[in-house]
Amino acid sequence: MDIGDALKTRRSVRRYQQKPVPREILCEVVDMCRFAPSAANRQEWEIVLVDDPQNIRKVYETLAWLPAVGPPPADSRPTAYAVIISDEKSDGVSDCASVTTYMLLAAHSRGLGSCWFGSISRTELANLLGIPDKYSVEFVVALGYPDEKVKAVNNDGDREVTVKEEYTQVPKRTSKDILHLNFFGKRG
Ligand SMILES: Cc1cc2nc3c(=O)[nH]c(=O)nc-3n(C[C@H](O)[C@H](O)[C@H](O)COP(=O)(O)O)c2cc1C
Repeated sequence: MDIGDALKTRRSVRRYQQKPVPREILCEVVDMCRFAPSAANRQEWEIVLVDDPQNIRKVYETLAWLPAVGPPPADSRPTAYAVIISDEKSDGVSDCASVTTYMLLAAHSRGLGSCWFGSISRTELANLLGIPDKYSVEFVVALGYPDEKVKAVNNDGDREVTVKEEYTQVPKRTSKDILHLNFFGKRG
């Protein structure tokens, strides 16, 4: 898949087929994340991959789902999660955001759906997975084979609208709205 197409077609997926993703594909996705940029190349993130049925049920309970879409029913939940943790020396959120972005795109390149979670019951999740105190849980990425089709459309100006048409469309701001050429406010 061309990288430009991948950037435009990746969408957050919140409904998944219940077919498990082979461990080697999950590990390949994690492996691609090693190449993400980090401040001063410190690479102080680590990833806890969760794919056993008992733990995936429990991880699900620690996540808050975008209200406009809502949580998936039991038969369409993610079949794996990657928990992105940083250690105490790390540049924290920005490095972990970088590696998380890589993970979404790495997953997309292998036909997987994904969704980034920042709203997490962090203490509960750290206890569940035995993550030592010196680490912080930064983000969770839900993973699995997608069971919904969502596409980006141009935002029609109402930035309060995060999803449209019962979550088949995600409005994105246009270049006209976000780009300043050489001087703030100059658009052309
Ligand atoms: C920092 C960050 C935190 C997010 N946290 C959540 C979350 O807690 N729950 C959720 O359902 N989606 C979460 N998302 C996913 C966004 O809702 C999603 O990216 C947005 O609606 C745009 O859709 P798209 O990813 O398809 O472009 C998060 C995304 C980012 C970048």
